[in-house]
Amino acid sequence: MLRVEKISHSFKNGNEVTPVLNDINFSVKKGEMVALLGSSGSGKSTLLNLMAGLMKPSDGHIYIADQDIVKLSENKLSVFRRKHIGFIFQAYELITSLTVRENVELPLVFQSLSPRIRKQKALALLESVGIPDKAELFPSQLSGGQQQRVSIARSLITEPSVIFADEPTGNLDSKTENEIISILLQLNKTMNTTFIVVTHDAEVAQQMQRIFTLHDGSLVTEQQIAATAEPQGGEML
Ligand SMILES: Nc1ncnc2c1ncn2[C@@H]1O[C@H](COP(=O)(O)OP(=O)(O)OP(=O)(O)O)[C@@H](O)[C@H]1O
Ligand SMILES: [Mg+2]
Repeated sequence: MLRVEKISHSFKNGNEVTPVLNDINFSVKKGEMVALLGSSGSGKSTLLNLMAGLMKPSDGHIYIADQDIVKLSENKLSVFRRKHIGFIFQAYELITSLTVRENVELPLVFQSLSPRIRKQKALALLESVGIPDKAELFPSQLSGGQQQRVSIARSLITEPSVIFADEPTGNLDSKTENEIISILLQLNKTMNTTFIVVTHDAEVAQQMQRIFTLHDGSLVTEQQIAATAEPQGGEML
């Protein structure tokens, strides 16, 4: 489903070259939920942004749904991303002038669906992330945890092949963090969505099926979690 092959990346600013990722190789199966763990500056966000097609690597290949996204032109890549890739940001990145429901519907604007079907899909997803009653409010009227639920619903609405999440609980307190992780685990189970979740919290990582650990731009360990632990705390959906 997702295969990263010999990925290396350096940032270049003028004459200065900063090597960030060094020969990364791994693959993720459909329906897997994987944590990308590592200390600050180890290259987690860089790797995630490369896999999500937000930038091109210096070297290597990234296959998603059998397509090497590194080879795609900018136009083809943006069409591919709309269809296959979802993204959840640490700071939610919702559009403040749109309602919660309109934010969730937004990725569907490029699809020829009737407004009624779009609305139905958005409301169903808001239900599955536990905030059906917030649909007609604006993001500023929601708590951080609720805004992240909206952003999760938005990432799911196109039924992407894979969803990348960059520290999705980084701005939240630990109780809300547990709730959000519970939602992601539940969606992974019920919708068979593939998730790659960046975190620097080992406890969060332990709740997923596998953990990849980055250190100074290299993949140092790949750990299989025996049985996915039941998420602690957080109310269920
Ligand atoms: N645009 C850029 N230009 C130059 N160097 C960069 C750029 N973006 C990131 N870096 C460097 O790449 C390294 C990895 O950064 P990255 O953001 O991937 O780390 P991270 O593991 O996500 O860290 P954090 O946990 O703090 O988010 C850092 O040393 C950073 O300074
Ligand atoms: Mg980061």
